[in-house]
Amino acid sequence: MNPAINELFTDAHTTYSFTSESVTDAELTSIYDLVKFAPTPMNSQALRVHFVRTLEGKERLLPLLDEGNRVKSASAAAVAILAFDTEFNEFLPDHFPQVPNARDIYQDSEKRIASAREIATLQAGFFILAVRTVGLDAGPMAGFNRAGVDAEFLSGSSWRSLYLVNIGHSDPQGQRPRNPRLSAERALGWS
Ligand SMILES: Cc1cc2nc3c(=O)[nH]c(=O)nc-3n(C[C@H](O)[C@H](O)[C@H](O)COP(=O)(O)O)c2cc1C
Repeated sequence: MNPAINELFTDAHTTYSFTSESVTDAELTSIYDLVKFAPTPMNSQALRVHFVRTLEGKERLLPLLDEGNRVKSASAAAVAILAFDTEFNEFLPDHFPQVPNARDIYQDSEKRIASAREIATLQAGFFILAVRTVGLDAGPMAGFNRAGVDAEFLSGSSWRSLYLVNIGHSDPQGQRPRNPRLSAERALGWS
């Protein structure tokens, strides 16, 4: 059997506490260099990532997390702020030259922002798998003050926060037992 099946799926868990082992900027960059290959509608690149990996950055971030999440991010070597770019369509002519006017499809801002969020959410799933692929552990979190994170870390940009992902090396007690998943019998339809 392909060992990646265990490493990426069946044995892989969400991590809630990490060892003190550091993670380099090169390792963090290598995560993105895999994520960028995720397939998206019209090859749209809506995901943006802001890495918080200094003590000073953590001090700014932790008060913006739900209380129960603070200790988790405090132990992570880095916290990725996954964001969507509300102006992602600017780059479409480069990334999907087959449709020269692709940028104009998103002139309506409501439609553009909804698409940005949807595409970046798809890429966020790949992000978690990419963290595991480069040999690190991931703890995704939705429990934080989005407006606060936007103001503190993304102000003056067209980026808006979506999820956080704690990244590092899982400590031996850092993972929880697997909860049951929906069975194929319940989740699949056939025709
Ligand atoms: C988008 C997303 C948001 C999550 N938000 C939180 C969170 O705010 N706090 C937390 O402790 N866990 C959070 N989780 C972790 C999930 O509860 C966990 O991934 C799930 O129970 C599966 O656990 P497992 O990987 O160990 O099987 C989140 C996971 C995802 C993917």
